[in-house]
Amino acid sequence: MYNYKNVDINLLQGDITKLEVDAIVNAANNTLLGGGGVDGAIHRAGGREILEQCKKLGGCPTGEARITVAGDLPARYVIHTVGPKYKIDKNKEVFLKSAYTNSLNLADDYKLDSIAFPSISTGVYGYPIMEAVDIALQALGEKIDSGTNLKKINFILFSEEDFNVYKEAFDKKLL
Ligand code: APR
Repeated sequence: MYNYKNVDINLLQGDITKLEVDAIVNAANNTLLGGGGVDGAIHRAGGREILEQCKKLGGCPTGEARITVAGDLPARYVIHTVGPKYKIDKNKEVFLKSAYTNSLNLADDYKLDSIAFPSISTGVYGYPIMEAVDIALQALGEKIDSGTNLKKINFILFSEEDFNVYKEAFDKKLL
Protein backbone atom coordinates (compact mmCIF):
# COMPACT_ATOMS: atom_id res chain seq x y z
CA MET A 1 0.00 0.00 0.00
CA TYR A 2 2.59 2.63 1.05
CA ASN A 3 6.32 2.74 1.53
CA TYR A 4 8.27 5.26 3.58
CA LYS A 5 12.06 5.04 3.86
CA ASN A 6 11.98 1.31 2.95
CA VAL A 7 9.30 0.47 5.50
CA ASP A 8 6.15 -1.08 4.02
CA ILE A 9 3.01 0.40 5.56
CA ASN A 10 -0.27 -1.43 5.02
CA LEU A 11 -3.84 -0.54 5.79
CA LEU A 12 -6.05 -3.58 6.29
CA GLN A 13 -9.65 -4.17 7.23
CA GLY A 14 -10.58 -7.12 9.45
CA ASP A 15 -9.81 -8.96 12.66
CA ILE A 16 -6.33 -8.39 14.11
CA THR A 17 -6.36 -11.83 15.77
CA LYS A 18 -6.07 -13.45 12.34
CA LEU A 19 -2.86 -11.65 11.32
CA GLU A 20 0.33 -13.65 10.92
CA VAL A 21 2.81 -10.93 11.90
CA ASP A 22 5.59 -10.87 14.47
CA ALA A 23 3.49 -8.82 16.89
CA ILE A 24 -0.08 -7.60 17.09
CA VAL A 25 -0.79 -4.64 19.32
CA ASN A 26 -3.59 -4.87 21.88
CA ALA A 27 -5.57 -1.80 22.93
CA ALA A 28 -5.66 -2.82 26.57
CA ASN A 29 -6.58 -1.15 29.86
CA ASN A 30 -4.28 -0.38 32.78
CA THR A 31 -4.94 -3.72 34.50
CA LEU A 32 -3.90 -5.79 31.44
CA LEU A 33 -6.48 -8.32 32.64
CA GLY A 34 -8.64 -8.23 29.51
CA GLY A 35 -11.83 -6.46 28.58
CA GLY A 36 -14.04 -5.97 25.57
CA GLY A 37 -13.26 -4.79 22.06
CA VAL A 38 -9.94 -5.82 20.56
CA ASP A 39 -8.66 -6.69 24.05
CA GLY A 40 -11.44 -9.24 24.46
CA ALA A 41 -10.91 -10.62 20.96
CA ILE A 42 -7.17 -11.12 21.53
CA HIS A 43 -7.62 -12.87 24.89
CA ARG A 44 -10.45 -15.04 23.52
CA ALA A 45 -8.46 -16.10 20.45
CA GLY A 46 -5.06 -16.24 22.17
CA GLY A 47 -6.10 -18.20 25.23
CA ARG A 48 -5.09 -18.29 28.86
CA GLU A 49 -1.33 -18.18 28.30
CA ILE A 50 -1.55 -14.49 27.44
CA LEU A 51 -3.57 -13.69 30.56
CA GLU A 52 -1.19 -15.71 32.75
CA GLN A 53 1.73 -13.61 31.50
CA CYS A 54 -0.25 -10.39 31.81
CA LYS A 55 -0.99 -11.15 35.46
CA LYS A 56 2.76 -11.21 36.17
CA LEU A 57 3.27 -7.78 34.60
CA GLY A 58 1.32 -5.92 37.27
CA GLY A 59 -0.53 -3.64 34.88
CA CYS A 60 0.61 -0.99 32.39
CA PRO A 61 0.48 2.81 32.76
CA THR A 62 -1.37 4.73 30.04
CA GLY A 63 0.89 5.40 27.05
CA GLU A 64 3.30 2.58 27.89
CA ALA A 65 3.63 -0.86 26.29
CA ARG A 66 4.32 -4.40 27.52
CA ILE A 67 5.00 -7.59 25.55
CA THR A 68 3.75 -11.15 26.07
CA VAL A 69 3.55 -14.42 24.19
CA ALA A 70 0.70 -14.76 21.71
CA GLY A 71 -0.66 -18.13 22.86
CA ASP A 72 -2.87 -19.64 20.15
CA LEU A 73 -2.71 -16.58 17.89
CA PRO A 74 -0.85 -16.77 14.52
CA ALA A 75 1.31 -13.83 15.69
CA ARG A 76 4.48 -14.46 17.73
CA TYR A 77 3.94 -11.76 20.35
CA VAL A 78 1.23 -9.45 21.68
CA ILE A 79 2.32 -5.92 22.53
CA HIS A 80 -0.19 -4.55 25.03
CA THR A 81 -0.52 -0.80 25.15
CA VAL A 82 -2.98 1.47 26.93
CA GLY A 83 -4.38 4.46 25.12
CA PRO A 84 -5.97 7.50 26.77
CA LYS A 85 -9.65 7.79 27.61
CA TYR A 86 -10.72 10.75 25.45
CA LYS A 87 -13.10 12.41 27.90
CA ILE A 88 -11.06 11.74 31.06
CA ASP A 89 -7.33 11.84 30.42
CA LYS A 90 -5.43 15.11 30.19
CA ASN A 91 -2.64 15.30 27.57
CA LYS A 92 -4.56 12.67 25.62
CA GLU A 93 -2.66 13.49 22.40
CA VAL A 94 0.65 12.85 24.20
CA PHE A 95 -0.58 9.58 25.69
CA LEU A 96 -1.98 8.31 22.40
CA LYS A 97 1.23 9.14 20.53
CA SER A 98 3.29 7.46 23.28
CA ALA A 99 1.18 4.31 23.01
CA TYR A 100 2.16 4.00 19.34
CA THR A 101 5.78 5.07 19.85
CA ASN A 102 6.40 2.78 22.84
CA SER A 103 4.85 -0.16 20.99
CA LEU A 104 7.16 0.47 18.00
CA ASN A 105 10.18 0.85 20.31
CA LEU A 106 9.35 -2.46 22.03
CA ALA A 107 9.08 -4.16 18.62
CA ASP A 108 12.55 -2.81 17.83
CA ASP A 109 13.91 -3.99 21.20
CA TYR A 110 12.73 -7.49 20.22
CA LYS A 111 14.14 -7.10 16.69
CA LEU A 112 10.77 -7.79 15.08
CA ASP A 113 10.18 -7.36 11.35
CA SER A 114 6.44 -6.82 11.35
CA ILE A 115 3.76 -5.35 13.60
CA ALA A 116 0.03 -4.66 13.33
CA PHE A 117 -1.88 -1.92 15.15
CA PRO A 118 -5.60 -1.61 15.80
CA SER A 119 -7.00 1.89 16.04
CA ILE A 120 -6.01 2.53 19.65
CA SER A 121 -8.49 4.40 21.91
CA THR A 122 -11.09 4.95 19.16
CA GLY A 123 -13.55 2.40 20.53
CA VAL A 124 -14.55 2.21 24.19
CA TYR A 125 -12.09 5.00 25.03
CA GLY A 126 -13.96 7.35 22.72
CA TYR A 127 -11.12 9.00 20.82
CA PRO A 128 -12.53 10.57 17.62
CA ILE A 129 -10.92 8.56 14.84
CA MET A 130 -10.25 11.62 12.64
CA GLU A 131 -8.06 13.05 15.43
CA ALA A 132 -6.55 9.69 16.37
CA VAL A 133 -5.35 8.79 12.88
CA ASP A 134 -3.27 11.98 12.61
CA ILE A 135 -1.56 11.14 15.91
CA ALA A 136 -0.88 7.59 14.74
CA LEU A 137 0.68 9.00 11.54
CA GLN A 138 2.85 11.44 13.53
CA ALA A 139 4.18 8.62 15.72
CA LEU A 140 4.75 6.44 12.64
CA GLY A 141 6.68 9.13 10.73
CA GLU A 142 8.82 10.14 13.71
CA LYS A 143 9.72 6.54 14.51
CA ILE A 144 10.73 5.72 10.92
CA ASP A 145 12.71 8.99 10.71
CA SER A 146 14.57 8.09 13.92
CA GLY A 147 15.36 4.59 12.60
CA THR A 148 13.68 1.21 13.00
CA ASN A 149 14.40 -2.47 12.22
CA LEU A 150 10.76 -2.97 11.29
CA LYS A 151 10.14 -3.89 7.67
CA LYS A 152 6.34 -3.92 7.76
CA ILE A 153 3.95 -1.78 9.83
CA ASN A 154 0.26 -2.64 9.46
CA PHE A 155 -2.81 -0.80 10.64
CA ILE A 156 -5.94 -2.92 10.73
CA LEU A 157 -9.41 -1.40 11.03
CA PHE A 158 -12.42 -3.41 12.06
CA SER A 159 -15.08 -1.46 10.14
CA GLU A 160 -15.10 -0.26 6.53
CA GLU A 161 -15.94 3.22 7.78
CA ASP A 162 -12.82 3.32 9.97
CA PHE A 163 -10.74 1.89 7.14
CA ASN A 164 -11.89 4.70 4.84
CA VAL A 165 -11.01 7.36 7.42
CA TYR A 166 -7.51 5.90 7.74
CA LYS A 167 -7.14 5.52 3.97
CA GLU A 168 -7.96 9.17 3.34
CA ALA A 169 -5.47 10.35 5.98
CA PHE A 170 -2.74 7.91 4.90
CA ASP A 171 -3.16 8.78 1.20
CA LYS A 172 -2.81 12.47 2.04
CA LYS A 173 0.32 11.96 4.13
CA LEU A 174 2.10 9.07 2.43
CA LEU A 175 1.28 9.19 -1.29
N1 APR B 1 -9.54 -6.50 15.26
C1 APR B 1 -9.18 -5.23 14.95
N2 APR B 1 -9.75 -4.14 15.49
C2 APR B 1 -10.75 -4.35 16.39
C3 APR B 1 -11.17 -5.64 16.78
C4 APR B 1 -10.52 -6.75 16.17
N3 APR B 1 -10.85 -8.02 16.47
N4 APR B 1 -12.17 -5.50 17.70
C5 APR B 1 -12.37 -4.18 17.87
N5 APR B 1 -11.52 -3.48 17.08
C6 APR B 1 -11.38 -2.04 16.92
C7 APR B 1 -12.55 -1.18 17.33
O1 APR B 1 -13.52 -1.15 16.29
C8 APR B 1 -11.86 0.16 17.51
O2 APR B 1 -11.74 0.81 16.25
O3 APR B 1 -10.34 -1.61 17.78
C9 APR B 1 -10.45 -0.21 17.99
C10 APR B 1 -10.19 0.06 19.47
O4 APR B 1 -11.39 -0.15 20.18
P1 APR B 1 -11.40 -0.88 21.63
O5 APR B 1 -11.08 -2.29 21.45
O6 APR B 1 -12.68 -0.51 22.27
O7 APR B 1 -10.18 -0.21 22.40
P2 APR B 1 -10.06 1.22 23.08
O8 APR B 1 -10.96 2.23 22.47
O9 APR B 1 -8.58 1.50 23.12
O10 APR B 1 -10.59 0.98 24.56
C11 APR B 1 -9.84 0.15 25.42
O11 APR B 1 -11.71 -1.25 25.83
O12 APR B 1 -11.79 -3.46 25.39
C12 APR B 1 -11.57 -2.55 26.39
O13 APR B 1 -10.09 -3.66 27.90
C13 APR B 1 -10.18 -2.63 26.92
O14 APR B 1 -10.70 -1.19 28.72
C14 APR B 1 -10.04 -1.26 27.47
C15 APR B 1 -10.77 -0.39 26.46
